[in-house]
Amino acid sequence: FGRNLKLMDEVTSTQDELRKLAEEGAPEGTLVIAELQTKGRGRMGRSWHSPSGKGIWMSLLLRPQVPLQLTPQLTLLAAVALCRAIGRVVPLEIGIKWPNDLLVDGRKISGILLESAAEDERLRYIVVGTGISANLDEEDYPEELRDKAVSLKIASGRPVDRAELIAAILQEFEQLYTLYQESGFAPIRALWEAHAITLHKPAVMNTPQGPVEGVPFGLDDSGGLLVRMADDSIRTVLSGEWAAETR
Ligand code: BTN
Repeated sequence: FGRNLKLMDEVTSTQDELRKLAEEGAPEGTLVIAELQTKGRGRMGRSWHSPSGKGIWMSLLLRPQVPLQLTPQLTLLAAVALCRAIGRVVPLEIGIKWPNDLLVDGRKISGILLESAAEDERLRYIVVGTGISANLDEEDYPEELRDKAVSLKIASGRPVDRAELIAAILQEFEQLYTLYQESGFAPIRALWEAHAITLHKPAVMNTPQGPVEGVPFGLDDSGGLLVRMADDSIRTVLSGEWAAETR
C-alpha cells in the first residue's frame, strides 16, 4: 500500500481526488495525501475540519472481492489498523468508538470515512478516508470542537512525525487486509472487540432506521453490532453511530 502515491498541497477532499484516480483504473493501495482540504467531509454528511500542514488527511484505495453488504467489515478493519498504528508510534491509550472513531480520554483524535462505488449491486472499489489530528494546537480548533476533539500532540505532549505515522498505518493496514483476505473477518472482529470502548455499556446508537437503545456487546460475522435490547432480544445494527451512554 502507498507505493502509488499522490502528494498534494490543496484539494477539496482527498476522497474526490482518489475517486478520480480510481475511475481511471488506479491499482489497489493507491494513496492520496493532502496538506490542506478546503471541503473535507466526515460521516453523516458532516464537514471535517482539515487545516493546513498539521493533520494527516489521506485516502486509500481498496478493490476487495467482497459482496457489497460486507463493507461494514472493512470499516471496522480500518479502525483496528489505525488504532494499532497510532498506538505503535505515540504512547497513548487509544480506544475505538463504534464503528470507527478513535478516542483518547473521551475525545476524538481520528475519524474514518468509507465511500464505496458499486454497479449492479457489485462493489467496484472502496475509498477509505482517514483524518488524524496529528499536530494541531488548541488554537487550530474552532470553539465548538475543543471539548470533543484533541490532537495526538496535545494529548501526548509532543509533536508526531507524520511520515512515520503514515508508514505505520500503511503497514498495519496491509497486514490486516491480507489477514482478512486469507482468514476472513473472525480475527479482525476479535481485534476490534479488544480495542472497543463502547461495548457492555447501555447506550443509544443512531442508525438510518432511527435510534436504537440497548447494550452493545460484540460484532456478528458480517460486522454488524450486536445489541441486547431491554426485553433481552438481540438486534443487529449495520451502520450508524454511537450517540450517548444511557446510564
Ligand atoms: C468522520 O469521523 O466523520 C470521518 C472523517 C474523515 C475525514 C477524512 S480526512 C481525509 C478524507 N477526506 C475527506 O474529505 N474526509 C476523509
